[in-house]
Amino acid sequence: MEKIVIEGGSRLEGTVAISGAKNAALPILVSALLTEGWNTFDNVPDLKDIRTIKRLLIDLGGKVETSGSVVKVDASGLNSYEAPYDLVRTMRASVLVLGPLLARLGRARVSLPGGCAIGARPINLHLKGLEELGAQISLEHGYIEAQARSLKGAVVYFDIVTVTGTENLIMAAALAEGVTTLRNAAREPEVVALAETLNRMGAQITGAGTPVITIKGVEALKPTSFSIIPDRIEAGTFMVAAGVTRGNIKVVGCEPSHLGAMINKLQQAGIRVDQEADGLRIVGTEMISSVDVKTLPYPGFPTDMQAQFMVLMCLANGLSVISETIFENRFIHVSELKRMGADIAISGNTAVVRGGGRLTAAPVMATDLRASASLILAGLAAEGTTEVSRVYHIDRGYESIEKKLAQLGGHLWRAPA
Ligand code: EPU
Repeated sequence: MEKIVIEGGSRLEGTVAISGAKNAALPILVSALLTEGWNTFDNVPDLKDIRTIKRLLIDLGGKVETSGSVVKVDASGLNSYEAPYDLVRTMRASVLVLGPLLARLGRARVSLPGGCAIGARPINLHLKGLEELGAQISLEHGYIEAQARSLKGAVVYFDIVTVTGTENLIMAAALAEGVTTLRNAAREPEVVALAETLNRMGAQITGAGTPVITIKGVEALKPTSFSIIPDRIEAGTFMVAAGVTRGNIKVVGCEPSHLGAMINKLQQAGIRVDQEADGLRIVGTEMISSVDVKTLPYPGFPTDMQAQFMVLMCLANGLSVISETIFENRFIHVSELKRMGADIAISGNTAVVRGGGRLTAAPVMATDLRASASLILAGLAAEGTTEVSRVYHIDRGYESIEKKLAQLGGHLWRAPA
């Protein structure tokens, strides 16, 4: 096990390049299951979750070749329909194979994901939607057993906006007979990127990026190439890093139009965000203002940025009310931040942060991916040397975060725990 050691107090300066988005790359790599022949995906980040999905594609009979950020996938040899417990428990996004396996093989056996650190995270809406497309679904010994002689287009209404649920249904419907309409669909840029990839494969999908997505099923899809969109959560994390260190950094290779809610909240907090020719310049301030934040589905403020933004609010000059409406247990970082001197009170899904302008170093423990990022940001802003343990969480979703921060002048490194 490793830890990240952070000597707080340095002001970040320089330029940071954003990697491809994990949450776009995962469904897009999986979409190769819908085709026969080599697909080529570029700008794929080198992350633990990406290695896990590649392993799953290989287990299913696919071939995967990686060269730098280019990943090629050929699923001609698809010969298994099972996503085993060992893989699904390390990464819930493995359930994304459910839709494509049903569409290609008419059968899927996928371990039912259990709860996770941030919430119960059921997949009932994925299953309900697939049933509406004609799949028979049962639960046997902890596995979802899904079968469909043929999938047929239908109207699917999502009670709650679900990102991977929308992605699973889009992939299943792409090869279904007839037209599927998804209502209250997720509008995340990652959903749009998946739909674009599938359309390049020959699918007929319209409306991605709006709450109503229409998919006209086609008989077959052909392999394609696609460049993974930039990771808006990684970009947002570096933008907050500039804010908490009162730094001045340029974030290049990001997509500003995906960062609207983040940019707006940073500006309200007094942080300058300027669009330059090749990226965004973020200039911190000594006087951070408190702002309230409510997490919402896109284009609202992302739940995946809530923990990091909370660190900024710990350094602000007033009270900030942070409401988490997506996941029921996504405040686990709070008790760790309190160990660093943060003044935060939680009531239900609301955290009240009393900014004080000061955090002090402490040994803290990472509990999930975005919580780990928040603790690293807190360490950068704190007085003294912070040690963040259990950093394997961060390797799931941030490419070389400590190296990128060190290049910006942060004093941090990895060490054996
Ligand atoms: N939900 C249900 N039933 C379902 C599906 C979802 O009740 O069938 C609920 C969830 O429990 C949650 C809410 O709906 O309360 C939204 O969950 P969603 O399904 O949208 O989450 P997800 O698809 O499992 C993706 C990202 C998460 C991100 C969320 C929300 C991927 C691989 N994961 O998860 O990313 O937090 O959307 O934006 O795309 C991360 O990267 O750290 C991460 C957790």
